Amino acid sequence: MTRRASAVAQTRRRIVDATLELHGEQGIGATSWDDIAARAGVGVGTVYRHFPSLDELVPAELRHLSSTHWTPIDIAARAAPLLCPHPETRVLDIGAGVGKLCTVGALSEMGTWCGVEQHESLVRVASRIARQLGVGQRTAFVHGNALRVDWHEFDALYLYNPFEQPIATPDPSACDNAQVACVCERLAGLSRGTRVVTLHGFGGPMPPSYALVYHEHVAAHGLDLALWVQGSTGRAHRQAKPGVH
Ligand SMILES: C[S@@+](CC[C@H](N)C(=O)[O-])C[C@H]1O[C@@H](n2cnc3c(N)ncnc32)[C@H](O)[C@@H]1O
Repeated sequence: MTRRASAVAQTRRRIVDATLELHGEQGIGATSWDDIAARAGVGVGTVYRHFPSLDELVPAELRHLSSTHWTPIDIAARAAPLLCPHPETRVLDIGAGVGKLCTVGALSEMGTWCGVEQHESLVRVASRIARQLGVGQRTAFVHGNALRVDWHEFDALYLYNPFEQPIATPDPSACDNAQVACVCERLAGLSRGTRVVTLHGFGGPMPPSYALVYHEHVAAHGLDLALWVQGSTGRAHRQAKPGVH
């Protein structure tokens, strides 16, 4: 690595660390870009330069979908370390959209990030954005049905409302019950220790073999972020907590 590339990587690391510390201390909604810049010891312009809003890289005709369909960047930054505690962790985003979660995760310099998405045009956008942000090598976006992928190949899975329940007025009858039932069954069969992060859930209850080890209601976005661990010996949790999707 050249001296300049190493300085860039160090600055990026300081910004990521500052973000995670602040999110842990005061929550995502209460953390501003100014707070992050001050904690990292850089100007706020430097934060924007290192982490441009992914939405600016999304083609204009898709941008209107971003706020309701794809993970907000601040939540992606919080979800990434929940999913990926080790450099060798392999993460799968089930229904990856334009790849915001995987790209932000890969920017944190840990793990490998794969997204499977049913719309081919979104897969192309995701791959391009990841390349533009310099993480093309540590991300993979695959076009296809997530239910046909072998989830056992991954240590951690991310589910953000893949079957598109309305956020404001969840209506269980609007869900594709066959897909939801398939997700429940697949999750139940995964290896001990598999991490599952949900944002606004996936439309069904987590299998009882999972322990809920972290939950945050992100008021700024009206979304519930939760980390579940398969067969964890942590707090026993037979059913999804009321209000935790
Ligand atoms: C709410 S979006 C979340 C996108 C992304 N995970 C994120 O957080 O930014 C759900 C995505 O799942 C995709 N999807 C739904 N069912 C799928 C399936 N069976 N296989 C692959 N993708 C699927 C949809 O096309 C949509 O892009």
